[in-house]
Amino acid sequence: MKRFVDLADLGRDEVLSLLELARRLEKQPEPHALAGKQLGLLFFNPSLRTLASFQAAMARLGGSSFVINPGQGSWQLETRPDVVMDGAAAEHVREAIPVLASYCDALGIRIFAEGRDLEHDLAEGTFNAMAALTDKPLINLESAVNHPCQALADWKTLDDLAVPRAARFVLSWAYHPRALPLAVPAAALHMAALRGMEVIVLRPDGYALPAPLMERARRAAAASGGSVRETSARDEALEGAQVLYVKEWGATACYGDAAADARLRSALTDWCVREDWFAAAPECRVMHCLPVRRNTAIAAAVLDGPRSVVQREAYNRLPAQMAVLHRLLRP
Ligand code: CP
Repeated sequence: MKRFVDLADLGRDEVLSLLELARRLEKQPEPHALAGKQLGLLFFNPSLRTLASFQAAMARLGGSSFVINPGQGSWQLETRPDVVMDGAAAEHVREAIPVLASYCDALGIRIFAEGRDLEHDLAEGTFNAMAALTDKPLINLESAVNHPCQALADWKTLDDLAVPRAARFVLSWAYHPRALPLAVPAAALHMAALRGMEVIVLRPDGYALPAPLMERARRAAAASGGSVRETSARDEALEGAQVLYVKEWGATACYGDAAADARLRSALTDWCVREDWFAAAPECRVMHCLPVRRNTAIAAAVLDGPRSVVQREAYNRLPAQMAVLHRLLRP
């Protein structure tokens, strides 16, 4: 494995092999496996889990890491091609990425969707342009429509909890005061489909996931013995569900139009997950990648109750990423 940028780039067997490695490293630490290796972490957007767990993972394997947050203690970086750089950015990624890559053995990049043009974000143009600037092992720390590290940790969480392969996995939209990117729902959708689950995307009108993402997930599901469909009927979707994966995302019907999105979502504040959602799904677990707004996306009683596995998901970022680093740097 040379890069870890999209779970869809890996076959199902390769994902299962990574998960096996994650479980091995969890039980049998290898504190010198990456001795002398350096990981560069370039974060254009904030992070708690991804940043801390990658630094911890690298340290636990005997390596080191450095972090760059452009514009916060380092130069602001320009990502747009062919612009006159007379604004705040002092340096272009065309120089900065090769420089950073020359200091490390693997590079991770986080850059969220611009949220203006759906086609542009679906094409991952900004992330891919930066990825093309280095031959070093590369890790997607969350791009416009992908978060493979979260997806790998979530798959491990499902395995840890012995959730059956064919179980009903409901990926539900939840309320947030503003439009959030599609990266996590897209990654969770693909992960559950590739795992072979019965995947239902539950979302209000206007929030359908883009057709190319749904089609790609359907192909993965077909190859893995699962299925993918979508609905806005909450009771029907949740009946017998074993997993409710909660995520907030922006309206795709008016992508890039913040005012129209705000009007649409203002009537959807009841999409806050409460205990009464689970009347027909008593065993259902609740997943969320975090960060989450309490009593906005998920009721505090659900987050603090026995259904919630959000802490396990967050913990699993550590062994999952140790496996990714081990596979990239010590193949
Ligand atoms: N889930 C996740 O990626 O968390 P952070 O944004 O805090 O890294």
